[in-house]
Amino acid sequence: GSIWEEYSQKVQDLMNNPKNMGQLTEEDAKNMGGKLIIADFGAESCGDAVRLYWIVDEATEVIKAAKFKSFGCGTAIASSDTMAELCIGKTVSEAVKITNIDVEKAMRDNPDIPAVPPQKMHCSVMAYDVIKAAAASFKGVDAASFEDEIIVC
Ligand code: FES
Ligand code: FES
Repeated sequence: GSIWEEYSQKVQDLMNNPKNMGQLTEEDAKNMGGKLIIADFGAESCGDAVRLYWIVDEATEVIKAAKFKSFGCGTAIASSDTMAELCIGKTVSEAVKITNIDVEKAMRDNPDIPAVPPQKMHCSVMAYDVIKAAAASFKGVDAASFEDEIIVC
């Protein structure tokens, strides 16, 4: 079959129509009664980059809103959108445990069939790395202090 068929319908839909693409502002944070966190991750080797916005309730650490912007490919957009969706309603400590595997699994149409071809797994890793950057910013620690549980391909 063609490579096209190696992408799930969910990936195809999210790449064209992401729900959580955009930004959050200080104004939004004020209205929602939370703290605005903005985090960047850039892949040095290819120049792809993702920016993640969170509004976090400071007392409970619950992520009340999440949005992203991306300089990545279609898979990166679908992955970042799914990642943002998975963050909403979790605490920062829970969100930092979301891996790129969780993101990829959430984009499957069929639980037994990968959502993207293996060559595209690295695009979902950015979604994971930017969560760690946001959590590090919120907690005032180094992103490297969070454990890695990723699969690149
Ligand atoms: Fe660069 Fe997917 S983000 S190929
Ligand atoms: Fe850059 Fe895929 S080519 S993350």
